[in-house]
Amino acid sequence: MELARRIRQIPPSATLALNAKANQLKAQGVDVVNFGVGEPDFDTPKNIRKAAIKAIEDGFTRYTPVGGILELKEAIIKTFHDRYHLSYSPAEIMVSCGGKHALYNLFQVIFDQGDEVVVPAPFWVSYPPMLMLAEAKPVIIPTREENGFKLTAEELKAQLTPKTKGLILNSPSNPTGMVYTQAELEALAEVVLAHNLLVISDDIYDRILFDGASFVNLAMLSPELKARTFVLNGLSKTYAMTGWRIGYAAGPSEAIQAAINLQSQSTSNPTSISQKAGVEALTGPQDTVAAMVKEFAWRRDDIYNRIRAIPGLTTPKPGGAFYIFPNFSAYYDRLNPRPGQSHSQALAEYLLEEARVAAVPGAEFGEDRCIRLSYATSRERIATGVERIAAALRNLGK
Ligand SMILES: Cc1ncc(COP(=O)(O)O)c(C=O)c1O
Repeated sequence: MELARRIRQIPPSATLALNAKANQLKAQGVDVVNFGVGEPDFDTPKNIRKAAIKAIEDGFTRYTPVGGILELKEAIIKTFHDRYHLSYSPAEIMVSCGGKHALYNLFQVIFDQGDEVVVPAPFWVSYPPMLMLAEAKPVIIPTREENGFKLTAEELKAQLTPKTKGLILNSPSNPTGMVYTQAELEALAEVVLAHNLLVISDDIYDRILFDGASFVNLAMLSPELKARTFVLNGLSKTYAMTGWRIGYAAGPSEAIQAAINLQSQSTSNPTSISQKAGVEALTGPQDTVAAMVKEFAWRRDDIYNRIRAIPGLTTPKPGGAFYIFPNFSAYYDRLNPRPGQSHSQALAEYLLEEARVAAVPGAEFGEDRCIRLSYATSRERIATGVERIAAALRNLGK
């Protein structure tokens, strides 16, 4: 069957084969340390689970308003206000089936065919394909490790054309864990305003922040910036709710209402039960978030120190999320990638086979020199996994 052009332009994920191999090894009883996961290794807190059970028992199991129930929108609005002094009305909020879905809806309604959208690399894997599905053109700008993999105003300016319509920012970042400072965002903001860009601020890791840092995004810097910024967030990471599928976007109502219109023709509302759980997540006790972040901070220190002790590896210190993105390129001359395989894919494959460690090649994120390690796994597994990596690299002979 000839499939639609739309989907033929989206390449299948290169890590699928690697994942399949990792799963095959696990099924054979091989002990694989999994640094590949993109979700917290914590359970959804009990108060949230209970709220969902109550929703079912109360019969809250029917269609809801497409863009989310008012009670949840109000909880989201209060969270934005209390945490970041950002004011939104319910018409400026869309609740979708996960942050990914909210982004997809937004891209479909704010970008048109041929619009150029700047995506700083390393980037979250889904941005380029989602932009392509909106017929927009992802313009990938490589950032520098010595700048903490953060986009500078000069780098942004150098890539602008009359067709540039948007900029995607993600802080704390997946895959690097890097966090933009207010001064860095202010420098980017000048370019954004001067060139009339729309900004998508993917803040999904905003609460997983270390070293006492305060979160800041572009919308918080001025009303002019807020008027051109779409803030994306969700419950998946903060409340360990990846399977519940609740994400949301906040921004100018015209676009948000258009995105809700699109959602009405595809999924309709996000799950009624998950929405009630979401109200409890945002308005209930927040101590589980603090406990999770404290544990991630401990692991961040531990994995950072262990990685830095391995000869040849370099990495900036992540300030948030639960990823570290070390540069392994000092070892690349020892590898023989197969035709079509990148160095990071070859090294990730070597680590899986030789060290029994699963990790995601940097090529997936637009930075082939690095490999992403997720530390959403126990302290013991982190120690074991990094020791295995060190031994496997020693065997490569450096
Ligand atoms: C940077 C980033 N944005 C958005 C998402 C979307 O998460 P969800 O669809 O579970 O809300 C993820 C999930 O991995 C992510 O890493």
